[in-house]
Amino acid sequence: MNSKKIIVAGIGPGAKNFITPAALEKISAAKFLVGGRRALAEFSTPNQETCAITKDLNAVINFVQEKILIDEVVVMASGDPGYYSILDLLRKNFEPAIIEVIPSISAMQLAFAKLALPWHNATLLSFHGRKPSAEDLKFAPEKILGMLTDNEFNSATISKILLENGWSENSKIAICARLSYPEEKIICTNLIDAANLEPVKNCILIVGKW
Ligand SMILES: C[S@@+](CC[C@H](N)C(=O)[O-])C[C@H]1O[C@@H](n2cnc3c(N)ncnc32)[C@H](O)[C@@H]1O
Repeated sequence: MNSKKIIVAGIGPGAKNFITPAALEKISAAKFLVGGRRALAEFSTPNQETCAITKDLNAVINFVQEKILIDEVVVMASGDPGYYSILDLLRKNFEPAIIEVIPSISAMQLAFAKLALPWHNATLLSFHGRKPSAEDLKFAPEKILGMLTDNEFNSATISKILLENGWSENSKIAICARLSYPEEKIICTNLIDAANLEPVKNCILIVGKW
């Protein structure tokens, strides 16, 4: 029986100094390494056989299926692998018993940290390729929302959606972009201004009372 593991290593929100030593150790030692193009450019070495995660997810599964017969395969996931990552796809195609996850810092965690705001009472939602239910989005006085975004669902479109779901024009919003990178930018404003500002894409939004 094959006892090789698929190691899903979280690489944190982006900058190299946010990766854990445990993940870095596995990534450096990997013979077979999978990850987004940016992560591969950052972490792979010439002696590693790599597979880039693109829209062709079957190619990634085929690569893992083939290489796992030879040695461990390390799959890099941005942020924390347990939070909207390729881990879902791997669990659909491989036995969870052969998957080992190395957790890391999620962009969501870092956004709350940047505001010095505890996140234990926050409602965490994803607009990344999906739209949360009206029930999840609707206003409540003490509610704090933390949201993943994408290109279509960005700071402007999501602000408009929240205004349609009972949030007031002066509700606070933090637009947290490129977290951990030198060009990191955090804009604190209100929903009506965010709805009319230039859209910020692929960021974290935090809305509510804080
Ligand atoms: C598919 S989700 C991956 C989430 C990831 N697993 C995590 O735990 O951070 C991608 C979304 O995460 C957010 N994100 C990832 N890295 C980010 C960063 N450095 N700054 C701000 N948002 C980021 C954006 O909303 C982006 O569209």
